[in-house]
Amino acid sequence: MAFWNRRRSIDAMLAPHSGPGLKKTLGWPHLMALGVGAIVGTGILTLIGVGAGLAGPAVLISFALAGLVCACAALAYAELSTIMPASGSAYTYSYAALGEIFAWVVGWSLILEYSLVVSTVAVGWSGYAVPFLAGLGVDLPFALTVGPHVEGGLINLPAIFIIAIVTGLLLLGTKESATLNAILVFVKIAALVVFVAIAMPHFDTANFTPFMPHGFGAPFVQTGVMAAAAIIFFAFYGFDAIATAAEETKKPERDLAIGIVGSMVVCTVLYIAVAAAAIGAAPVASFADSPEPLAHIMRGLGQGVAAQWIAAAAVIALPTVLLAFLFGQSRIFLGMARDGLLPNRLAKISKRGVPAVVTVFTAIVVAFLAGIMRLDELASLANAGTLMAFMAVGVSLIVLRVREPNRERKFKAPLWWLVGGIAIIGCIVFFFSLKSSTQIYFLLWNLFGLAVYLIWSSRNSRLAKGEEAEA
Ligand code: ALA
Repeated sequence: MAFWNRRRSIDAMLAPHSGPGLKKTLGWPHLMALGVGAIVGTGILTLIGVGAGLAGPAVLISFALAGLVCACAALAYAELSTIMPASGSAYTYSYAALGEIFAWVVGWSLILEYSLVVSTVAVGWSGYAVPFLAGLGVDLPFALTVGPHVEGGLINLPAIFIIAIVTGLLLLGTKESATLNAILVFVKIAALVVFVAIAMPHFDTANFTPFMPHGFGAPFVQTGVMAAAAIIFFAFYGFDAIATAAEETKKPERDLAIGIVGSMVVCTVLYIAVAAAAIGAAPVASFADSPEPLAHIMRGLGQGVAAQWIAAAAVIALPTVLLAFLFGQSRIFLGMARDGLLPNRLAKISKRGVPAVVTVFTAIVVAFLAGIMRLDELASLANAGTLMAFMAVGVSLIVLRVREPNRERKFKAPLWWLVGGIAIIGCIVFFFSLKSSTQIYFLLWNLFGLAVYLIWSSRNSRLAKGEEAEA
């Protein structure tokens, strides 16, 4: 079939996996830990400052809006992951629901997302690690701790360093350990709870006026509540890690919903509490530009020890987010290579069971970007990729409900038309609230991707070669 009509069949996709499959060992507490572990990171620790700078105290509304759109996307992920449990990403869902060319755009956008999340979180890590080390008496030369966009800055070496460490761990074949993940989730949540507990007694309502100094915003207006929501969106994703565990879940029809919705609710409540405490304790202008806003606020309150503890928690726990996304990136790449859309040679698995070539190549690129680029620009572009994926998931949910109403769904999203609709519209509005430079870079990335697809992938795909039955 012509490439624009090519679609994978869900039945054919599931066939090779009919067999014993993975062990069903996970319950909802595991799923929640998995989700919160991948979600809580640079978004709440650092981008809260960027968001507050764009929206003022009304960044609280931005958090709620971003949480709502992500919760809807999460429900759509949950349903689709129980239909196609063996795979597990927006790319695969789109391949079956929308067709090859859409799947390509989604996969190509996911590669951008996963890569740039790694760069962003590494820069966020560096923002906390450098002052933390200074607190221990280790002063690094300023020029080597920030990129050239800051006067006197040259390169962000700590960000490159942490990417190198995480890449090394992945190459050794490190898998995320459930126990270590649970401990680090505890460390992260404890740090945020301590922050709220210390900041709350300093709550001053005067810091909330003017509440919305830059207005509500609208598409193409790159300031205000919507622009802040579009960047704060970064803080909420990572939950697709839960959807990918569908096959290993004991009772997917119950545990997936609790895991996904539960981790979203925990994060949304926690985030809004942190944002309210931060704004109540310090005027927005005092922390909006800080590379370590939460520690900065603590120091401003004379709580140097608490600042040092929060920074320590960030330094210890953020690498798990890096690990999850760098791993996820190679998984997407492998999936696309297996389907014949990317060269198999690049996805070669090393003796330790790791796709070493693509991991090292990705690490070099993301480390370079982390070394020289601004945190908010990296996050913004990562968000553009994610928004594309979430939108596709919302569309896939609706398309499959209409086209295949009788297919078995172990978990069904409630009010699917509303959930899918909010995910789609929310993602479109957020996308157009991002910086215009981000929109242009994203367009260029996808034009380049489409050229690769038309020249190479559309001819080499398994469907094109008849190696798998089409839908
Ligand atoms: N949600 C993840 C973070 O904030 C990507 O770091």
